[in-house]
Amino acid sequence: MDELHSLLLDRALNTIRAGQLVAIPTETVYGLGADASNRDAVQKIYQLKGRPANHPLIIHVQAPLAGSKDTEKDWLTVLDPWTRHISETALTLITHFWPGPLTLVFEKSKLVLDCVTGGQSTVAIRSPAHPLTQELLRRFGGGIAAPSANRYGRISPTSAADVETEFPNNPNLLILDGGPCEHGIESTILDVSGEGLPKLLRPGSISPSMIKASTGIDVVSSSGIANQPRVSGTHLAHYAPHTALYLYSESDIASQLSGFMNQEPKLRLAVIVWEHEHSHHQEELKAYLQNITFIAIAMDPGLLAKQLYRLLRDLDQGQYQGIFIPSPPKTEAWDAVRDRLQRASFGSGPSSNNHVSS
Ligand code: TXA
Ligand code: MG
Repeated sequence: MDELHSLLLDRALNTIRAGQLVAIPTETVYGLGADASNRDAVQKIYQLKGRPANHPLIIHVQAPLAGSKDTEKDWLTVLDPWTRHISETALTLITHFWPGPLTLVFEKSKLVLDCVTGGQSTVAIRSPAHPLTQELLRRFGGGIAAPSANRYGRISPTSAADVETEFPNNPNLLILDGGPCEHGIESTILDVSGEGLPKLLRPGSISPSMIKASTGIDVVSSSGIANQPRVSGTHLAHYAPHTALYLYSESDIASQLSGFMNQEPKLRLAVIVWEHEHSHHQEELKAYLQNITFIAIAMDPGLLAKQLYRLLRDLDQGQYQGIFIPSPPKTEAWDAVRDRLQRASFGSGPSSNNHVSS
């Protein structure tokens, strides 16, 4: 670690210890962190985000040092202050996927503050893979409670600059700059608090089939968002840009767009297209080329996840009256991206009230 980062880490450590907030880099998105054992510090997260108090936070914990002789035992020691019971299944998931973009929901211990769990009897925990945040956690020795570092209902930040633009009125917020996020969307969340199979609460880059392939463990898909009102990411209107965002179906893009393009005055639209369809769609829409900006992207779920929030943030600054994006294929590999796009679309637009009503 270079000297600059070491100094920054010292500052971050002192800030966390003093009960203040620090924005932390993770491999998924940036988090807005506070000492998970300090009630006043945790309250500051809710205040700054504008997040309702019953929306629980994830506690971030350190990983055992590489080369440890008994990793399972080390993980149990790390989790012991926060959890009541860890099943064999949960331990298998931990040893395979931590540190990494997987959050697990456990039965909570008495020590976990109610303000962290929104009063629930369970607690969400993950060990993030970013080396700077791991080092901070190691020096701190405790847990850091952190939601994504965006204002409530808005797009998660995937760079230090994004965090800055989320909180323009807080120029003193300490941001640990760890570069752009590797995965670009929030972690997969699994509920392992009960006796049965783990339940998928939020899709992410670790999919049920990846889990099955590397551990043999089956994951139960959640049967609809209405059943988990406490997972704020499951509220329909999350991750939303200010510009109206529309998902279009690949087969009739021309007819869907002509409705918009025949309006007067002419609208300026950003149309995202799959790379391999780019010239084909340009041909189909040639009557409107003056008012359309095409953005070609590769049809690859991992790559799109990584770029998605960056793309939406940038287009949101582009003075468009609408952003169009193709509906991703309905396959598991696209579940996480499709989920974020549907929510972003539902909550989008300059005067959307959907954040409150859902
Ligand atoms: O990748 C991530 O998970 C990022 C980084 C910063 O770690 N964090 C993140 O936090 O996305 P947030 O607060 O934006 O989303 C956390 C989700 C919320 O949907 C919350 O409701 C859910 O985790 N959650 C937290 N505690 C829970 C619990 N006890 N039971 C069920 N869901 C819980
Ligand atoms: Mg969030």
